[in-house]
Amino acid sequence: MKVTVVGAGNVGATCADVLAHREIANEVVLVDIKPGFAEGKALDIFQSSPINLYDTRTIGVTDDYSRTAGSEVVVITSGLPRKPGMSRDDLIATNAGIVKSVTENVIKHSPDAKIIVVSNPLDVMTYCAYLTAKVDSRRVFGMAGILDTARYRAFIADALNCSPKDIQAVLMGGHGDTMVPLPRYTTVGGIPVTELIDTETLTSIVNRTKSGGGEIVNLLGTSAWYAPGAAAAQMVEAVVRDQKRIFPCCVWLNGEYGLKDIYLGVPVKLGINGVEEIIELKLNADEMTLLNNSAKAVKEVMNVLDTMNTVQA
Ligand code: NAI
Ligand code: 2OP
Repeated sequence: MKVTVVGAGNVGATCADVLAHREIANEVVLVDIKPGFAEGKALDIFQSSPINLYDTRTIGVTDDYSRTAGSEVVVITSGLPRKPGMSRDDLIATNAGIVKSVTENVIKHSPDAKIIVVSNPLDVMTYCAYLTAKVDSRRVFGMAGILDTARYRAFIADALNCSPKDIQAVLMGGHGDTMVPLPRYTTVGGIPVTELIDTETLTSIVNRTKSGGGEIVNLLGTSAWYAPGAAAAQMVEAVVRDQKRIFPCCVWLNGEYGLKDIYLGVPVKLGINGVEEIIELKLNADEMTLLNNSAKAVKEVMNVLDTMNTVQA
């Protein structure tokens, strides 16, 4: 079973490495537009197989989609990352052109693939891939919620000096400052987090989560890759192993949460068919207001894409 990762940069190569290392696919094809780049990264990853003891073959190609044919899942990470002072939305025009042309090639060679978008601005690039692919929306979804929730969970583990493994949480909305972490749905070993952390500390964790991407951009001068690559690989695993895992993912909403014709982060069940179920939580009025604000912000950027006419509905 083959998985393709487009973009052999920081996030793409990390994702390919996790897929190979954990034998999530038999074959991982890494594609990049920069000559030799994907080949070099794939060779390096493959040369770690005798050390890390795995069988997955990792192959790199320069813009040659024939090698990706018949992929079960394709992860799209191609595009520019954020630089300091740059918002995710600044990236829209350049990355929309890249995501469009990549998606056309992907669908041509792997018409049945599930497509996981990572490129930013995430919600809108997922919409761009969906418009281009012209397939069932359950097969085109974006990675953000697992990363954002992982940051939130890591900060909570830090505050409580406990294992991150024991933090369960859900977070909704767009991949940006309007995202909605949900303390009411956060538990630590089954205990509501609100019984363990005071409101002020929890609010500062929520705020740090919302700007978690920017925190790393300011430290590194480019955006994060270890957690994003691992998060995308976890989504691939849920699909190819038909795990029916529940994750927050960026998906097309058709009336759920009272929202329609929008890609937004909500909890879903991921399996071999892609998005197999959208889970509707009973949000309270405050949570619903935050989700609606986030949807409004995402919709504004979707409208920017629509006016650019890069892709036609
Ligand atoms: P990077 O610059 O390290 O890698 C991007 C790669 O895409 C480069 O190697 C580039 O040559 C390649 N590329 C550009 N155009 C291409 C095309 N037409 N076909 C194939 N390859 C092409 O960037 P990095 O850090 O890997 O980030 C990738 C994207 O993921 C960015 O848009 C970034 O903002 C986004 N991102 C999203 C996250 C999320 O939570 N959804 C988290 C982290 C990054
Ligand atoms: C992140 O959240 C910038 O979207 C990227 O790390």
